[in-house]
Amino acid sequence: PAHPVAQPGSSDFIVVSNRLPVDRVPQEESDDGWRRSPGGLVTALAPVMATREGAWIGWHGAADETLAPFHHGNMDLFPVPLSADEVELYYEGFSNSTLWPLYHDVIATPEFHRTWWDTYQVVNKRFAEAAASAAAPNATVWVQDYQLQLVPQYLRALRPDLRIGFFNHIPFPSPEIFAQMPWRKAILEGLLGADLLGFQRPNDTANFLRSARRFLGAGVKARQVHVNDASGHFSHISRAEPFPISIDVAQIQQLAKNPDVIARAKQIREDLGNPTTVLLGVDRLDYTKGITHRLKAYGELLDDGTVQVEDAALIQVASPSRERVETYKQLREDVEGMVGRINGQHDTIQNTAIRYLHHSYPVEEMVALYLAADVMLVTALRDGMNLVAKEYVAARGDNSGALVLSEFTGAADQLKQALLINPHDIDGLKAAILRAVTLPKAESSRRMRSMRRQILAHDVQRWSEDFLSTLAQKAVRDDS
Ligand code: F6P
Repeated sequence: PAHPVAQPGSSDFIVVSNRLPVDRVPQEESDDGWRRSPGGLVTALAPVMATREGAWIGWHGAADETLAPFHHGNMDLFPVPLSADEVELYYEGFSNSTLWPLYHDVIATPEFHRTWWDTYQVVNKRFAEAAASAAAPNATVWVQDYQLQLVPQYLRALRPDLRIGFFNHIPFPSPEIFAQMPWRKAILEGLLGADLLGFQRPNDTANFLRSARRFLGAGVKARQVHVNDASGHFSHISRAEPFPISIDVAQIQQLAKNPDVIARAKQIREDLGNPTTVLLGVDRLDYTKGITHRLKAYGELLDDGTVQVEDAALIQVASPSRERVETYKQLREDVEGMVGRINGQHDTIQNTAIRYLHHSYPVEEMVALYLAADVMLVTALRDGMNLVAKEYVAARGDNSGALVLSEFTGAADQLKQALLINPHDIDGLKAAILRAVTLPKAESSRRMRSMRRQILAHDVQRWSEDFLSTLAQKAVRDDS
């Protein structure tokens, strides 16, 4: 690479996450063999890291490939290799077939396999070793998300000088659900290696603290956990706090004002035959997102004749995700079957009920879609935050547009002026969609203005500053 990469042992600020911000893809799918990684974690952290000149440790998305560190977009990237077996057992297995469904309130049934757990530990050790070798003395290391819950403990053992933070991007379940985890104590001990644990909602924080008390018998006072070492002596205090994550507001606002993006939004509406109402859903194709609930409600509105295919079009972007995991394969079958049935019944030669797109798109195209959409549908059954809802609000500079938002998202805590829904209540969801379609201009603009005030004042830079300054304070107090 043209730019020299930081030497081992010299990075003062390090992010560790399962994925790097870029993903290895076959040469024919991109010019340089790299593509932006999917999901909210990278959306949120990439802009933060671009201004901090940190190091980022993570997997590059390909199996059985060892890559040298490289420089990319102002960051030093340190790829962690995973074998094909590890991808299956650690990533598809323990991370996405055990933890993911368990932490999302068992919407799908979690599977518990000892071989998956063994590999989870092995891979977490590897990430911890990579961080330990990259970190300068007394550096700050910020570990991300459920795939790496054991890293804080492993890293503290290797490098007690470090300041260790952990942020959980997904929900933390209630102790009644977390109880199912056969390795619940080991996971809690892993997390408690951190000086500061961040969660999306106050509820997630409370759930974690209740679990620490119940399953470890830990002393918890005012969101501080008293952590002992293996021999029962006091080791450190680990704090748990909510830090609701956000988006790069300036980037979305800038794109929303860009003439090319505005022209593209107009084009999108024209290509759909200029319907009166454009509705939009944007999700990773994941069973937590409530896509089938949304389609069911929309299909019934068409069946009832309350919504007409000549007047309204629903664009559903479903970006491919975890495609080798069985539950995701099944979901794709279900969603595509529903879209086919609804379109088959309601489409005309000219109009389509649902324009279904199984793709991921660059942020410019996403913002054009947000500008083109009168109504945004976010119907997740459980979601740590949901950044799509926040991006939609940030893009609506003229205060128009309506957001239908599930109360089971972290974003619902902040976007109280959305049309809040319970996605399991199909009649309630239908009524909310209809209300969004017919919302008087004065009301939609009052709601949007209030939501924008919240989002504009709480961007992702502020989120990272809040977390990192709390982590720094903690360390000062411990040293004194
Ligand atoms: O924020 C949740 C999250 O699971 C991230 O950890 C992850 O990178 C993203 O969603 C996308 O999922 P995946 O990395 O499995 O493609």
